[in-house]
Amino acid sequence: MSVESVDRKLATANPASGTGSKITLNSLKTMRQENRPIAMLTCYDFPTAKILAACGVSILLVGDSAATTVLGENSTIHATMDFMILLTRAVRRGAPDVFVMGDMPFGSYATEEAAVANGKRFMAEAGVDCVKLECDLRHESIVRAMSMAGIPVCAHLGLLPQRAVQQGGYRYQGRTEQESDRLVRESAAMVEAGAQMLLLEAVPDRVSRRIVETVPCLVMGCGAGPSCHGHVLVLHDMLGYSETVPRFVERFGTVPAAVAEAARAYVRAVELREYPQARHGYGVKES
Ligand code: KIV
Repeated sequence: MSVESVDRKLATANPASGTGSKITLNSLKTMRQENRPIAMLTCYDFPTAKILAACGVSILLVGDSAATTVLGENSTIHATMDFMILLTRAVRRGAPDVFVMGDMPFGSYATEEAAVANGKRFMAEAGVDCVKLECDLRHESIVRAMSMAGIPVCAHLGLLPQRAVQQGGYRYQGRTEQESDRLVRESAAMVEAGAQMLLLEAVPDRVSRRIVETVPCLVMGCGAGPSCHGHVLVLHDMLGYSETVPRFVERFGTVPAAVAEAARAYVRAVELREYPQARHGYGVKES
């Protein structure tokens, strides 16, 4: 499918818009009320945003996972605000009607002032509909300050990749009753502080169900079981780029194989002098 043809389909393809109108927090809430699961994916560039929008993805998360998926770093902590803004602007241009969520990078919300300033940058410079930050109970005042400043917040709870060292590695959370109770408390506290959406990463479905039953807002899951209102995967994991993936990831495609096939065909055509041909060239006008 060409980017132009998916573009033409954009107006009707998205289940959250239906009419080609902008997906908002309200339309996502309506999906929740109508018990329609919400599909969310990470996205980091303009052409992919166009395709994903036309395929019915309701929320595009410009995740700090870009540091690993796009830059090849070994941790998300290498993403910076400027890098995230640049990518998010591209995604917004590619998917003007989709709900776009910007991921606050490591260190960008260490204080209330920094969080508000950087959240505003995401809104004003990249046009996001919401920002996401990795939270625990200590972030209550930060979420409150952002919410008071008019910045819609998604609180990311559970496995927090930016705190992988503090959390003892990339381990699933909510393993014990004590940990589960803490996650339920954190969820309630973030919503009370003004978070308008939660994202639970790598927690048992039993815990997600308790949270979904406790809070009034949308609860998205990333390896958090079927009870969540919607689900997110890292695009590169589900397209087959990542060599190792968490157990909750399902590979829905093998894009690297398609890229390799095209690249091999190109190299062969160049080597055999089959490309370029006369039709690819420019002429010179007779004077
Ligand atoms: O950055 C990211 O891709 C994320 C997802 C794992 C939810 O935060």
